[in-house]
Amino acid sequence: MSIERNFSIAFVADLALHEKQIQQNYRPIIAVHKWFARRPGTLFRSLLLAEFAGGELAGNYYRSHNFQGLKVADPFMGGGTPLIEANRLGCDVLGYDINPMAYWIVRQEIAYLDLEAYQQAAREAGVFLEEKVGPFYRTRCPICGREDAQVKYFLWVKVQRCHNCGREFDLFPGYILAQKGRHPRDVIICAACGDLNEVEDKRHPGRCQTCGEKLITKGPASRNHCLCPHCSYKNSYPNPESGPPGHRMVAIEYLCPHCKPRHQGRFFKKPDSGDLTKLAEAAGTWKALPPQFVPEDEIPAGDETDRLHRWGYRYYREMFNERQLLGLEILARKISQHPDERIKDALATNLSDLLRYQNMLCRYDPYALKSLDIFSVHGFPVGLIQCESNLLGIAGGKTGVNIGSGGWTNIVDKYLKAKHYCQWPFEIMHVNGRKRQLWIKGEWIGERRQGMTQQREVDLRCASATSAALEPSSLDAVLTDPPYFANVQYAELMDFCYVWLRRLVKAGNPVFAARTTRNQEELTGNITMSRGIDDFTEGLSRVFSNMAAALKPGAPFAFTYHHNRLEAYYPVAVSLLDAGLVCTVTLPCPAEMAASIHINGTGSSIIDTVFVCRTTGVISRRLLVREPEKIAILILRELEELEKGGVPVTRGDTRCIIYGHLIRLAVWYLRPTWDQSLSWDKKFALIAGMINGLGGAGAVETCLEENGVQLKTEREAIVCEGEIEYGAESDEVSF
Ligand SMILES: C[S@@+](CC[C@H](N)C(=O)[O-])C[C@H]1O[C@@H](n2cnc3c(N)ncnc32)[C@H](O)[C@@H]1O
Ligand SMILES: [Zn+2]
Ligand SMILES: [Zn+2]
Ligand SMILES: [Zn+2]
Repeated sequence: MSIERNFSIAFVADLALHEKQIQQNYRPIIAVHKWFARRPGTLFRSLLLAEFAGGELAGNYYRSHNFQGLKVADPFMGGGTPLIEANRLGCDVLGYDINPMAYWIVRQEIAYLDLEAYQQAAREAGVFLEEKVGPFYRTRCPICGREDAQVKYFLWVKVQRCHNCGREFDLFPGYILAQKGRHPRDVIICAACGDLNEVEDKRHPGRCQTCGEKLITKGPASRNHCLCPHCSYKNSYPNPESGPPGHRMVAIEYLCPHCKPRHQGRFFKKPDSGDLTKLAEAAGTWKALPPQFVPEDEIPAGDETDRLHRWGYRYYREMFNERQLLGLEILARKISQHPDERIKDALATNLSDLLRYQNMLCRYDPYALKSLDIFSVHGFPVGLIQCESNLLGIAGGKTGVNIGSGGWTNIVDKYLKAKHYCQWPFEIMHVNGRKRQLWIKGEWIGERRQGMTQQREVDLRCASATSAALEPSSLDAVLTDPPYFANVQYAELMDFCYVWLRRLVKAGNPVFAARTTRNQEELTGNITMSRGIDDFTEGLSRVFSNMAAALKPGAPFAFTYHHNRLEAYYPVAVSLLDAGLVCTVTLPCPAEMAASIHINGTGSSIIDTVFVCRTTGVISRRLLVREPEKIAILILRELEELEKGGVPVTRGDTRCIIYGHLIRLAVWYLRPTWDQSLSWDKKFALIAGMINGLGGAGAVETCLEENGVQLKTEREAIVCEGEIEYGAESDEVSF
């Protein structure tokens, strides 16, 4: 029962908040490959230490530990966060994920890699690319006239043919290419001649320096309509019947090393005839090349992929331009020839991750002046301005930092850092506002370590956890992050990478046998696959029961959950009750920051609830309340802790915390009379009824809101009382 005693909300909130701001700096391992909604590694390390290290968390956190012999499972491993933390602490691990991409990614994270040999191979692939397609990413610098400036990004606008006059026109939503900030001036595309103008103030842009026409910032394309500039006919878009949308290159952001020392800000240019010739050459080379690795797969219908269909995309390959297809095909060929399987697999993983940036759905961030990859939100939004990154990447000069994003060198560098971190993991400590990186000597991630014989068990299974039959009493902990009903369509999104990766690694890998990662057993609500809340609940319940049966008596089953609607937690309550688990405590912890379209704009909460559950043990009587005022008091204390940890808590956050407590309590009070055999809707009704009986979320919120002063006094009084009670023998109820 150590998590309940040793976990510190404030300490972990501080760690997790820092981590989630730039997760790559705290857990470089995530750069092995994109996965969605990764939870903070610092949180799972904390849970493991609180449970197994004994004593105060803060004292243990920055020290090295080895829990050899303990076995930890995660039925929904995704990007692998809980498993990686357990493996790093010396535990044997068992992971399930139904998605082959998740399985593959965790495998790559844990697999041993000879870093030198990998680096050499990645460099060779880069040289090969340079030889074959390098010239297609060079441009003439209009300032000095040299031909060897490096393209950072090609920017494209969607075009369409007029339904009335048949002529082609641009779908510009606006003409501002870059905003002042990173660059000293606003950059505006002239609507008349297409030239780029640098202006002091975009609100008064003046006239075009080239053609003299008035500069405008608002474009003609808006709300799926655009007037044809030739005949004024009002066209609508998209037009899926005419195939995937066309694009026209309208600007280039480049880097001229010769002019750089004397130049202020970024370099922008309008594409010249040389740029168009290179594009045509790339297209010609691509056409002459019989593709071996570019996928032929059709895009299946789906909750997220339907948007692609609405834009006329029918095949995955249509989401790329010819220069991208050429470069990716050539890279894949080179990778496929590598004689060492481990290195080949690592490079193939790199290519798969590179795809995120090498497609015509990437957008350009006009503030940050960089590419937004296809998964920057958890969907497939199609913009009107697209950004094509330099495929090779621009390796930095003296500093060694890459210039621009989305190229091969970027991906390889991140991968190297990730795998280096596996051998020498660290933590970051904040001391007086300054960061200190501490090597945690003796800890490492993987199956084996260079020069050492000790092996750890790493059992990863690409299978549905609903049918996991595990030996009873074989697990010391289950740590997981289950899918949240309809939050992210993992399979639909990841298929975008899978169809490519599959071609490179299929031969030796049965998990790549299917053409898609979609699976009827995936636990997400999906309208296209007719999976509803009933399937989700039933599946989650089976997974919880399987895991609970495999746990040693009293061992923890801890998982994170987050949703803006209380009903989305009902399946969790049902699953806990069906599995005979009791929630001994709920702990708030910051998690998701901004990326999810499902979280943005909906009272956006960044707080997850960690449900800590066990099949047997004791629970603090203090937590077993029934009245909204008393629930509110528990929450006030948690809010205080979060604040101590530097987390600014919003109303949305508070709601998620309330939901956690209500579910915890509903499970406790329903437990004695729970009938597993009832239908899911009857079970939901019981939970809803119980939550009503507890006053409901609204009542707790009102109690919290009731004028601050009053609440404050109550809080102080209770904090003292709570401290005395907590941990005392008589304060615990056995279950
Ligand atoms: C929220 S994600 C886990 C994210 C992970 N904890 C991380 O931090 O990267 C949930 C995972 O559950 C997986 N999943 C969905 N249904 C499943 C099933 N029936 N069996 C096993 N895994 C499943 C999804 O593929 C997804 O990877
Ligand atoms: Zn120059
Ligand atoms: Zn027209
Ligand atoms: Zn002009």
